[in-house]
Parts: sequence; structure tokens; C-alpha cells
Amino acid sequence: MRSIVLYYSQSGNTKRVAELLATSMGTMALRYTCPAFDGSPFGGLRQAWSIFSYATPKIILPKEFDGHYDLVVMAGPVWGARPASPLRAILKQKPLLGLKQAIFLTCEGSSARFPGEKALSEACALCAQPPVAAELFKAIDLANDKVGIKVDAFAESLRRATAPDTTAADPTRSTDQTSQASDAAA
Ligand SMILES: Cc1cc2nc3c(=O)[nH]c(=O)nc-3n(C[C@H](O)[C@H](O)[C@H](O)COP(=O)(O)O)c2cc1C
Repeated sequence: MRSIVLYYSQSGNTKRVAELLATSMGTMALRYTCPAFDGSPFGGLRQAWSIFSYATPKIILPKEFDGHYDLVVMAGPVWGARPASPLRAILKQKPLLGLKQAIFLTCEGSSARFPGEKALSEACALCAQPPVAAELFKAIDLANDKVGIKVDAFAESLRRATAPDTTAADPTRSTDQTSQASDAAA
């Protein structure tokens, strides 16, 4: 299976989880950028405006992204209890629309008024089709040495969600199931 982790990150938290996840999945993590915010004069103001107006900025996909993947894991931070605007922008990108997607967000996670969980639900709803798996990483997870365990568990859920269904192709299993069903009926 060919997969990729595609992330946006400003202060490095999403980058860190994306790289750990890519290692756990045996794939690459690629960063997409948002020139209007990153290192641009008035970038902070534009970013704040995107939170209040819900506008989506222009984003740039990394040149290594070739669009031929069985699974794309989309990632980004939470801003104002919503998926960060560059993440909302990438979820609308045409090259990604037909691909199987998973999602993770990172957030501070300590404010009940600005919950990351709400942002994660919104990000899932914005995906072209329901994501195969979704996860939220909070500051407390990242501060913990065990962040790798949570990342590995997420990678495992992605493997399970994208594993080919061998049930129908396995005649032995099919026979077992038939006989179990007959036993149950008797
Ligand atoms: C403008 C802005 C708004 C944020 N809003 C929230 C929020 O509503 N809820 C939350 O838990 N964290 C919030 N955070 C914290 C970030 O989601 C968190 O630090 C995230 O891990 C940053 O990811 P990054 O380091 O990859 O950029 C906000 C951070 C910024 C810069």
C-alpha cells in the first residue's frame, strides 16, 4: 500500500507527530505550506482574519506529492476550535478528492471553550468521504514520553482500516463460517 502523511505546521507540533507517524507507517511525511501566513508581512493578521471569517487561504502542495496514493493522512493544528484554515483548504484540493483519507489534528487541548474534539469532528465532515481513521493529539500527549505509543496505535488503526478484506477470497474460512452457521441453526 502506498501512503503519505501530508501536514501543515507552524510551531512544530504537527510536524513532530507527522514524522513519528510516517516512521511508524514506513512512509514519508510531506509539509504543505501557506505563503500568505508563513513568514509573510501581515501573515499573523491574515491568519487571524481566516479564523474569524472562515476564509480558506491558498496553499502549496509539496512538489514530491504525486497524487498516486492508496491513503493520504491529512494533518494540521486546531485554531479557534476549528481545523486550521490551511487544513480546511487542503481538504478541498482536487488531487486529493478521490483518495482514501485519514486525519489527525494537534491542539493545546486544555480549554473547554476551544475544544480540539469539535475541530476534529468538523475536519472529518469536510473530508470528501468519511476518513478511515481520525485522531487528536493534545499538548499533554506531546509532553508525555509515551506519545510514540499513541502514534503507533493510530498507525495500527490505519493498517487495519486499509488492509484488504481477505474473508471472501479465503475458501477455508468461508467453509468454517458456513459450518458454524449450520451448527448454530441446529
Ligand atoms: C491562532 C491559534 C489558535 C489556536 N486555537 C486553539 C484552540 O482553539 N484549541 C486548542 O486546543 N488549541 C489551540 N491552539 C493551539 C494549537 O492548536 C497547538 O499548539 C497546535 O499543536 C499547533 O500546531 P503546530 O505546532 O503544528 O503549528 C491555537 C494556536 C494558534 C496559533
